[in-house]
Amino acid sequence: MNSLFDVSGRTVLITGGVNGLGRMIAEGMLCAGAKVYVTTRKADAVDTAQRELSALGDCTVLAANLTDPKGATALAQEIMTREPALNVLINNAGKTWGAKLEAFPDKAWAPVFDVNVQVPFTLIRDLLGPLRKAASAEDPARVINIGSLAGTVVERIDAFSYAASKAAIHHLSRVLAAELADQHITVNVVVPGYFPTHMTAHIREAPAELEQLVRRVPLARLGHADDIVGACRFLSSRAGRYLTGSELYVDGGMAGCR
Ligand SMILES: NC(=O)c1ccc[n+]([C@@H]2O[C@H](COP(=O)([O-])OP(=O)(O)OC[C@H]3O[C@@H](n4cnc5c(N)ncnc54)[C@H](OP(=O)(O)O)[C@@H]3O)[C@@H](O)[C@H]2O)c1
Repeated sequence: MNSLFDVSGRTVLITGGVNGLGRMIAEGMLCAGAKVYVTTRKADAVDTAQRELSALGDCTVLAANLTDPKGATALAQEIMTREPALNVLINNAGKTWGAKLEAFPDKAWAPVFDVNVQVPFTLIRDLLGPLRKAASAEDPARVINIGSLAGTVVERIDAFSYAASKAAIHHLSRVLAAELADQHITVNVVVPGYFPTHMTAHIREAPAELEQLVRRVPLARLGHADDIVGACRFLSSRAGRYLTGSELYVDGGMAGCR
């Protein structure tokens, strides 16, 4: 029973793991003994992140441009030159676009859907080989897609394409869970509420808005690193092997208590 939540020795790929939620998840996985690959678009961020994350465990930082599916295919190929088997794929990289309805531009749709929906799909498709190699009935390979509260409930955040893209990845995850269940690959969604990252900086910089937000959270605070790490470690470990096609809300009760 002591090993129920163990992720040590698992090979994990986290897209966008140099900043924000991805960084929290990467650090949490490394501290628990997983072998972790993270990606960033920023070539000049690789060395620092490599040094910092390697201090915590076996980590490789890869430069990868995941703005379109070609970048996802290139990343999958890079992973396959390094690893025959992949236990866990965490599609975390995400893009948002905020503007009032009247000013919301057409160009805010395709790039958001590319990063939030099509890139995760392409990565899953192109990494099926190593995922299958890691998978067994007793210990499935895991795909964890990072969704959003805004993809399930109506949050008035002026991020129209983002909300629609997150609803799309939630549904796509269920479709792929059904498709891959008999291959012993699970697909689940972790659904964050509000966490203090670059993506939510505009809220935290406006004290009145932050106070109003926290008042709407039943557990009365933003998310912490432990909260997102706990969900991802659970889904990656033996404890999480019987879930597929599910959504795990890490939102202080914002969806469930409505
Ligand atoms: N923070 C929250 O409260 C919250 C709530 C719900 C859902 N989420 C979801 O959590 C995930 C992580 O977001 P975050 O809060 O950590 O935001 P963040 O700090 O802005 O980080 C976004 C991450 O996505 C990567 N990324 C951004 N644009 C990209 C692009 N065009 N191509 C490839 N990678 C890109 C970034 O990597 P590089 O810049 O290093 O390339 C970065 O690691 C996203 O899927 C987001 O939708 C966050």
